[in-house]
Amino acid sequence: MADRYLSFTGTAPGRFLSRRLGLPQPAALRRWSPQRPSLDGALLRLTAGKSELDPDLASVLSRTGLEVAEAVPAASAGALGVAAVVLDASGVRDVDGLGEVHAALHPVVRSVAASGRVVVLGAPLDAGDHHQAAAQQALEGFTRSLGKEIGRGRTVNLVRLTDASAAESTLRFLLSPRSAYVSGQVIHVGADAPTAPTAPTLPTAPGDWDRPLAGRTALVTGGARGIGEAVAETLARDGAHVVVLDVPAAEADARRVAERLGGTALPLDITAADAGERIAAALPDGLDVLIHNAGITRDRRLVNMPAERWGSVLEVNLASVLRTTDALLASGALRRGGRIVATASIAGLAGNAGQTNYGASKAGVAGMVRALAPRALAEHGVTVNAVAPGFIETKMTAAVPLFIREAGRRMNSLAQGGLPVDVAETTAWLAHPASGAVNGQVVRVCGQSLLGA
Ligand code: NAI
Repeated sequence: MADRYLSFTGTAPGRFLSRRLGLPQPAALRRWSPQRPSLDGALLRLTAGKSELDPDLASVLSRTGLEVAEAVPAASAGALGVAAVVLDASGVRDVDGLGEVHAALHPVVRSVAASGRVVVLGAPLDAGDHHQAAAQQALEGFTRSLGKEIGRGRTVNLVRLTDASAAESTLRFLLSPRSAYVSGQVIHVGADAPTAPTAPTLPTAPGDWDRPLAGRTALVTGGARGIGEAVAETLARDGAHVVVLDVPAAEADARRVAERLGGTALPLDITAADAGERIAAALPDGLDVLIHNAGITRDRRLVNMPAERWGSVLEVNLASVLRTTDALLASGALRRGGRIVATASIAGLAGNAGQTNYGASKAGVAGMVRALAPRALAEHGVTVNAVAPGFIETKMTAAVPLFIREAGRRMNSLAQGGLPVDVAETTAWLAHPASGAVNGQVVRVCGQSLLGA
C-alpha cells in the first residue's frame, strides 16, 4: 500500500500544510540506483580529540567516491550542502573532548544536504578509564539525539573501531545511499584479524567492490517474496549465485524469483528436522552466505494464545534458525569466510502487545547472534550478525489496520516506513567479504524507530 502522506507532503501545498499543522515532514529518501550509486558532493572530515586512526582513515575515506574536504567547500555552502560529515571522535577521552565534538559539528550541521550522512567514529567502550568510558558512551546519546532532530532524510550513526581499514565496508555502506533507512545505530567493528588464538585470518579485501559476492553462493530462506525477495535480488546484484528457499506451497514464486536472478529455487519447509542436512545435500559445493529471513507472525495477547500459535512462531523464527545454523556449521557446508545474517525485529527488542510469541522469537535471534558470533568466527571463520527491521512496507504491513499502520510509519526519525531494499542493502553489507570484522552485531533498519532502545 502506497504511503499517500509521503507523496502529499512532497507537493508544495502538502509541505505548506504539514508545516503549519506541525505534522511529520518525511523527506523522499535517496536510495541506491545503478545510475546514481553514490551521494553527490563533498565528504567533510572533522576530528575531535587526539585520534590514532590515520593514515588508514584518510585512505579509506578517499575511496568512498566522495571528494574529501576538511572545511565546508565554498561550492557546498549554498543550497546543495555537503553529502556527508565524518567526525573522528575516537580520541575523545574526557568531557573537554566532548566540547570539541560540539565545536566541530555545531557550525556545519546546517550544511549537510538532504539525505546526507553524519558518521561519528568512536573508540571501543572498554578502552581507557572511567572518564574515557563516560566520554565515549556520551557519543551514543549525542548520536541518537542528533539523529532525532536532524531531519530532511539525513541519518546519524556511530561506528566504534580501532582500525579504519577493517571498517572500510562499513564506512562505505553508511556513507552511501544504500543505508537510507539506517539511523541512530551504534556499530562495533573489531580489528581486522580476529583475536582468538585459533582464529583463521579472514579474506577481507574483495577484488571488486561492485560485485563483491562474485563466485559465492548465498541461500535466502523465505526468499519467494517480501524482504527475502529483495535480499535475493540485492545479493545477486552483488554477484552471488542465490538459492531461493521457501515452503513447497510457494515453489512457483521461488522459481520465478530464482529464474529472474539466474539462481536456484529450493522448495523446503525450514522447520523440517533435517532441513540443514537437506540444504547441504542440495549444495554439494557448499555455501558462503546464509540468510535466515523466513519468519511468521501469529498475533494474540498471551491470555488468548493457544500453544500451537506460540509453538509455530517459535519454531519458524527461532528453533529452525538455531537448528539449521548448527547443522550447516557442523558439517562444514558453510565455508570458511562465510557469513550468517539472521532476521530479528524491533518487536523483539522493544516488545509489542499481541506479540509475546514473535517478540520472544526475535529477541532469541539476537541472543543467538551475540553468543554464537565469537565462537563461529574462532572455530569456523564465519561471522554471525542480525538485521532488526522496523516498519517495512510489505504485504504483511499493508494488512495492518490503518491507524496502527500510520503510527508505525511515522514513529521514527525519518517519519516513514522503510522498503524491503533497505533491509536487503544492510544484509548485503553484513554479507560482504570485507565485513569480516563486523561480528555479533544486531543492526536495526528502522529509520531510528521510537520503539525500543
Ligand atoms: P513475508 O511474510 O512477506 O515473507 C516471509 C517468507 O517466508 C514467505 O515467502 C514465506 O513463505 C516464508 N516462510 C514462512 N515460513 C517458512 C518456512 N517454515 N520455511 C520456509 N519459508 C517460510 O514477510 P516479510 O515481511 O518479508 O518478513 C521477512 C522477515 O523480516 C521475517 O523474518 C519477519 O519477521 C521480519 N520482519 C519484517 C518486518 C516488516 O515490517 N515487514 C519487520 C520486522 C521483521
